[in-house]
Amino acid sequence: MAELTDTEAKPTRAYVIHPDLGRARTQRREPEHALAEAVALALALPGIEMVGSEVTNLREPNPGKLFGKGKLAEIKQRLEAEEVELVLVDGPVTPVQQRNLEKEWGVKLLDRTGLILEIFADRARTREGVLQVELAALSYQRTRLVRAWTHLERQRGGLGFVGGPGETQIEADRRAIDEQMTRLRRQLERVVKTRTLHRAARAKVPYPIVALVGYTNAGKSTLFNRMTGAEVFAKDMLFATLDPTMRAIRLPDAGGGGAGRKIILSDTVGFISDLPTELVAAFRATLEEVLEADLILHVRDISHPETEEQAADVAEILDSLGVDEDVAAIEVWNKIDALGPDTRAALRRTDARTEGVQAVSALSGEGLEDLIAAIDRTLGEALDEERVAEELMLDFADGRARAWLHEAGVVEAEEAGEDGLHLRLRWTARQKGAFEAFTGAERAEEDEDPDDRRPSGWHPAD
Ligand code: GTP
Repeated sequence: MAELTDTEAKPTRAYVIHPDLGRARTQRREPEHALAEAVALALALPGIEMVGSEVTNLREPNPGKLFGKGKLAEIKQRLEAEEVELVLVDGPVTPVQQRNLEKEWGVKLLDRTGLILEIFADRARTREGVLQVELAALSYQRTRLVRAWTHLERQRGGLGFVGGPGETQIEADRRAIDEQMTRLRRQLERVVKTRTLHRAARAKVPYPIVALVGYTNAGKSTLFNRMTGAEVFAKDMLFATLDPTMRAIRLPDAGGGGAGRKIILSDTVGFISDLPTELVAAFRATLEEVLEADLILHVRDISHPETEEQAADVAEILDSLGVDEDVAAIEVWNKIDALGPDTRAALRRTDARTEGVQAVSALSGEGLEDLIAAIDRTLGEALDEERVAEELMLDFADGRARAWLHEAGVVEAEEAGEDGLHLRLRWTARQKGAFEAFTGAERAEEDEDPDDRRPSGWHPAD
């Protein structure tokens, strides 16, 4: 039997079918492009060998077997010829249709929700993400107990939709699933509490946060890796609590004669069109850090025929997440290397004319210097705009607080008085909040160890 999750074994031979619903389908996407996206998604699963794909007309879905008789036989022939083990249907398939099709074709079958769940499970990096995906997977499975169904085993890297032992007792399984869902919900509550702590830890970082968002396959990770490749100060203690999708980097000095601006670069999960509703919560949980960003880099695959539609999707989701329209953003037009010379030249001209657009190739590095300069400039403007002057007094003993302020580059002047250090600052509300989080955490640490009490933190000077 095909074992999707065992990467050691020979790859699973897979075939993708995109059912074209004709009038019922959303007008925006061409079926061929939807099929290409589904194939790309399927290839994101480990251990898959794609042996074929097709768009199939499906004006009137059959309640029992989805497809009509002739179509069923025609596809069966193709599947047999290619020795297909796994069929991915890029759309909703009812449990009954799934069972019937699996029997008819002698294959394992996943629908779109099942496929995306597998991918999210593979990609979930935070504890909350993992739990949200498991919860979504369980409620999906619960409706599918008509088929042979196996227990969840995340350790093997997948959700176990494919493969697994034979028939199980549906009732007992359903009860087991309900119990596990209750357990997961309880864990999730605890995780959300710890996440607040992680947030606090992240909030005390003195640098602005730059978040990469974009459609799946747009090239976010490639860009992230390229920008963080020459990582120099990842060992800094301040970042011990950051998750692996966030890196601190120093931008090259734009003006010369000094060190460049430091930023935190944050990668996120890619967007997917027509995200099944039961997956929205899991997806959002992985995206929340965008809300804390000082600058959003919207990475677009500009060589994709539906790049405009994809950009509209991304904008819509950011909006629904509550991302403020005023947050600074740069559109990164990626993959210009994949375009013909004329289109490319035209794009570079548009880029030069258009504020907030940078054409690059994350792969070849073309345009990257300009992008970095634009990040530096945009952040500078965004931060300057909202900077206010403030006086602050620190105890002499408060060396760490002083170091933080200098690291953040917000100190304009400082002078030693009799009662402590008087500082003149110019900072943004976020920087001030980060500083308060930092000194708050420092104080909490002191409280934990009463023998190591330092003088109290900082006081705003009058
Ligand atoms: P998700 O993780 O699905 O959200 O994808 P992503 O946005 O992180 O994309 P990723 O960096 O994984 O890149 C997707 C594919 O595009 C890979 O095959 C990359 O090699 C390719 N790619 C990325 N940048 C470029 C580019 O500038 N030019 C070309 N030709 N291909 C690129």
